[in-house]
Amino acid sequence: MSDSQSRSSAIKTQIPELGLTEYWYPATFAKKVKRRPVGVRMLGETLVLFRGRDGHVAAASNTCPHRGGSLMHGVCHYKGTVACPYHGWVFDERGECVAVLSEGPESAMPGKVRLRIYPTAEYKGLVFVWMGNGKPVPVENEIPPEFFEGRETALFISARRWDVNWRVALENSLDSHVMYVHRNALLQLMEPYQQFGRTGYSPRIVNGRAAIGYLRDPPRTGREFYPGLDDYWPKTEWRRLWLWIFAWRNARIRNSRPFLEDNEEWGMHTMVDGRYVRSAGHHLPSMFRFDFGGQMFTRFCVPIDADTTRVFYIHAARRKTRLGRALRAAYYHLFRNWALNINFSTQDYRVMAAQDYDAPEMLSASDGQLVRWRRLLLTARGMPDPRDPPAGG
Ligand code: FES
Ligand SMILES: [Fe+2]
Repeated sequence: MSDSQSRSSAIKTQIPELGLTEYWYPATFAKKVKRRPVGVRMLGETLVLFRGRDGHVAAASNTCPHRGGSLMHGVCHYKGTVACPYHGWVFDERGECVAVLSEGPESAMPGKVRLRIYPTAEYKGLVFVWMGNGKPVPVENEIPPEFFEGRETALFISARRWDVNWRVALENSLDSHVMYVHRNALLQLMEPYQQFGRTGYSPRIVNGRAAIGYLRDPPRTGREFYPGLDDYWPKTEWRRLWLWIFAWRNARIRNSRPFLEDNEEWGMHTMVDGRYVRSAGHHLPSMFRFDFGGQMFTRFCVPIDADTTRVFYIHAARRKTRLGRALRAAYYHLFRNWALNINFSTQDYRVMAAQDYDAPEMLSASDGQLVRWRRLLLTARGMPDPRDPPAGG
């Protein structure tokens, strides 16, 4: 194993298994929090979500400080509060114990006990939570800009649970697997088979928060001869029979303007020789973004536990008119959601779920984006300063 390869494997073990804490993460859909408390597990902790007095979603630690009752199994008897199902201690949205329903109004506990409260924010129907130990940073700089665009920007969001660690979920993007794993995905069958070459994606860091990868040379398409096999791959080229149907679509995507024209960091831009090259990349704390040309796709991976991740798929598209938005919604629900989030992404999930992530690695030059992303994670907010001596040392 070369030096740089063993260094990258060493870095892997320094990235926190339960995620970076000093960041905002999506927790759940606002519409799921109604009159009952809702439990959400993330970053290895369980939260209870309930509505505050003014209707905003509040988040608190789920464990009752009395004797460990589970607040998500409790009841919101009074507006802006949650009551523990065990002895009826009632907490408000500031986390303050305001009544003990099993003792009576003379109970000595109100005003003396607190729950930990986590700051929340809501955009486009999604509830974001800050679980950091430090002061929350402004959420506006931390989540994709399309969350702050007006009505003309439609976001289609769905969530799925993957039984893999969050690092695995993120590392499964922008490497050479794409064409191989997805060769029979419907979306990929609309494009020719591509070989990305020996070095694959060239990564670069933007604003210390995004690792953007692009292909320096256009991929080679079609069958190629492999001397070690004395044969060709792919074995058949049936797709050539129908590719002419999608030639127009593929050219349109290739030549479309970037989704976020003047925002390189979130738009994942790459200009090569004055020409925009379709590109993609990773963004702290745990996003993968891909500009599909006219639509932006985000895979936001939220650690649940060491072996589980909640993946939010976020599709953004701009349509000026109501009819345009309705057509877009129909396209998403009838085709795109299935094609990308299910047909395509389930192929990813199958290989990840069976992967031995802790095995020693032998990286190839085409793993450059992976190495860059791991290094970026080490510099994230809340990570130990590399100049500090190790704890206990
Ligand atoms: S454990 Fe929650 S009120 Fe007793
Ligand atoms: Fe994939």
